[in-house]
Amino acid sequence: EDDEGQEEESKDSPSEDDSSEEECSDEDVKRDEGEEEEKVAAFSEVRGEEEKEEEKEKEGKTEKPSCSKEACQPAVFVPVDRLAEIQEARLKLPVLAEEHVIMEAVRENPCVVLCGETGSGKTTQVPQFLYEAGYASGSGIIGVTEPRRVAAVSMSHRVATEMNLPTGVVSYQIRYEGNVTDGTKIKFMTDGVLLKEIQKDFLLQRYSVVIIDEAHERSVYTDILIGLLSRIVPLRNKRAMPMKLVIMSATLRVEDFTQNQRLFPAPPPVVKVDARQFPVTVHFNKRTAMEDYTGEAFRKTCKIHRMLPSGGILVFLTGQAEVHSLCRRLRRAFPYKPNRECTEGEDRAQGLRHFTRKQRKKPAALPRIDLDNYSALPVEEGDEGDDEEEEDGDEVSDLDLGDNPDDYDEKSDPSIPLYVLPLYSLLAPEQQAKVFRPAPAGTRLCVVATNVAETSLTIPGVRYVVDCGRVKKRFYDRVTGVSSFKVTWTSQASANQRAGRAGRTEPGHCYRLYSSAVFSDFSLFSEAEITRRPVDDLVLQMKDLNIQKVVNFPFPTPPSSEALAAAEQLLVSLGALEEPPREGRVIDLKRARLSCPITPLGRAMAAFPVSPRYAKMLALGQQQDCMPYVIAVVAAMTVREIFDDLDRPVAKDEDGEKVGQRRARLAQNKRLWAGQGQSLLLGDLMVMLGAVGACEFAGCTPKFCEENGLRYKAMLEIRRLRGQLTNAVNAVCPDVGVFVDGKMPPPTPTQVQCLRQVVLSGLGDHLARRVQSEELLDPKWRNGYKTPLLDEPVFIHPSSALFKTLPEFVVYQEVTETTKMYMRGVCAVEADWIPKILPQYCHFSAPQENPGPRYSPDSGRIRCHCESTFFRVGWKLPSVEMD
Ligand code: CDP
Ligand code: MG
Repeated sequence: EDDEGQEEESKDSPSEDDSSEEECSDEDVKRDEGEEEEKVAAFSEVRGEEEKEEEKEKEGKTEKPSCSKEACQPAVFVPVDRLAEIQEARLKLPVLAEEHVIMEAVRENPCVVLCGETGSGKTTQVPQFLYEAGYASGSGIIGVTEPRRVAAVSMSHRVATEMNLPTGVVSYQIRYEGNVTDGTKIKFMTDGVLLKEIQKDFLLQRYSVVIIDEAHERSVYTDILIGLLSRIVPLRNKRAMPMKLVIMSATLRVEDFTQNQRLFPAPPPVVKVDARQFPVTVHFNKRTAMEDYTGEAFRKTCKIHRMLPSGGILVFLTGQAEVHSLCRRLRRAFPYKPNRECTEGEDRAQGLRHFTRKQRKKPAALPRIDLDNYSALPVEEGDEGDDEEEEDGDEVSDLDLGDNPDDYDEKSDPSIPLYVLPLYSLLAPEQQAKVFRPAPAGTRLCVVATNVAETSLTIPGVRYVVDCGRVKKRFYDRVTGVSSFKVTWTSQASANQRAGRAGRTEPGHCYRLYSSAVFSDFSLFSEAEITRRPVDDLVLQMKDLNIQKVVNFPFPTPPSSEALAAAEQLLVSLGALEEPPREGRVIDLKRARLSCPITPLGRAMAAFPVSPRYAKMLALGQQQDCMPYVIAVVAAMTVREIFDDLDRPVAKDEDGEKVGQRRARLAQNKRLWAGQGQSLLLGDLMVMLGAVGACEFAGCTPKFCEENGLRYKAMLEIRRLRGQLTNAVNAVCPDVGVFVDGKMPPPTPTQVQCLRQVVLSGLGDHLARRVQSEELLDPKWRNGYKTPLLDEPVFIHPSSALFKTLPEFVVYQEVTETTKMYMRGVCAVEADWIPKILPQYCHFSAPQENPGPRYSPDSGRIRCHCESTFFRVGWKLPSVEMD
């Protein structure tokens, strides 16, 4: 499960971005009045149907911008002094032929859509055209948004190199890092970063042009940005502060943007770049589809490498683990030794050497444990600590198609080495950059990638594409929010994009690991992400922009009204939105027409760069000096999977033993981190807290993480997030003055109890109650939990700290469906907290024998003794005193 969702993780959400320290300045809290009006004006349609007509009239006027045409046209031409070889390479790009047409369209229109095949030069060249045309010579700069961090970083480097300008002129900004300076003229960023900037400056006055790149990917934040910019651009032009919007897409399917009356009443012009694409011969598999597509990809790649003329190979798989597994197998089959050039003879010899069994490694010693700081002490020097990639024990011997790499040393096969590189979103940038450099002489390039190579990045020299036809996506149940990762077939459009990667420089071949019949069953296009996921974070961010009727927002593809209603409902119960009028006891969202205004708590929550449930925890975290722990727990919950993946299938040989050893050690650590008594009741969140605490005590080194089964990358991310959340908390509540030192002492029992209550307040809709023995009608409910939303039982995972405890009431972070429905991130709560902390979910009734309301002289209030039940399911809860 280690890599699940990591493709998604790479996308920066605005709630996760950290563009700068000033992020949560006072400005954020006390909002500027004038700006407020502006936002309302731009989105007056979201306030109510009746105002719509009036607005249309107004918009009609804005079509003739009050600024003169000259004002929109930058006067200066800014020459760029490129190196001759760069200039030569540029001239070969199809987009260069259209420079004039593109710039003309941009000059004449506030918004332009640009379509062109991947690799035609959109991302690297269009910002340069705009720069040369003087769009960055005034005070405004050129902003380019990318849905993926990889692309933002690598494209800024590429453009900086091409333009040969002083450092800092072309920069990037992603979630945690950036190199933006005062002199920046072209800024590449993730879509989330720009969305966050809109919250600070609705008119985006820093920008003269915004380019929305990879619009075809239809990422949620890209979609929202387009919706927002469709209003911001006319507003800017009306105020004689002209601004241009360029939407760039790799496919021609742009109707969602152009034929969308609500988005752009006047359809923007579409400029099409004719890419010079060489023919790609597509080869389908005869067999419909293989279960083991990684194995099939391995065999196909081996065949291509042995039998076909030179040219790079690009393999598409679905996730990080698969990518690494295939890379290992290919490296074993065709080893390449860096630092010296391999001759063909040597290569064979190396292959032989490689296939002799590896030396059995001495099993690692178990670490000593220091109980004072819940930390596993570092293992003694020389025990292990090799940074070498762990072998996952793929068994190569069961291949039967003559592609068995064990055979290569027997055959007289003079294969040249294969230069194998992985490529996926979370790969370290310097590793990613390798794919753009030429492969070492005497080798063939082979890139094994996830769909990041589909359109965002163009890898030079690829002539063969191997396509597994699948993609890994996260699916959510619309009602219950239960998520699962599924590998599904991709769309025809995506498959064709993948094939197209083979024909960039010369005619190529694409090997599809599925039959043409399967292909014809693919959906034509992939659906927009916004229709597939919960939108509570988006709704909160939009409400914070004073977009009240989110349902009227000009989305390129609107999310379902159920999803919007679910988000609004959640935000109301978290206290982030005002409660609409109640119809009896049930909040009637239909009557409220999805337009609950934001509350002061909601504003504070929107300032925290995490999803609303966690933001609520932060908002309540300042009790008993708990804030540093709340921050650590929230950071750990936000980063997907902090533990190393030990559940990968392993071979029975020495690797298996090593993995077994590590598994035992991790289990021991988890027990240790979970602790006893109170702290055990914090459950999996205590384990996370313990892991973070222990890792910080050890200085957060790769060695410590490796030895203790923690993902180093995750721990680093948690560390950065803790710093960022601390800044956010201090900015929102300056009087709190949290200081987070990396190292934290373990929480006291009182603090643990407080933490459990804070967690309950954020995860109130994720309450589950153990099925009582008298309710056990069906054996499938044994040890099961009932939740208000699901009909089926959910379970505590065997790896959870509370697996043996089985508390009566728990809250969970999420339910993921694997073999069963498992709750992740489980924490025990006490029944008598529920009516007090979650009154919004309870029904109260005064019991008969109750003497009735009585005045309490201490508080000066009238109090009443009530019995309560948990809403929908009617669980009886302890009676409470109510005001
Ligand atoms: O955005 P679009 O897909 O239209 O093309 P691009 O990303 O601007 O790439 C244009 C060309 O620049 C491609 O042929 C890439 O191979 C090349 N390029 C490169 O060689 N190195 C990079 N780091 C980025 C792009
Ligand atoms: Mg591009």
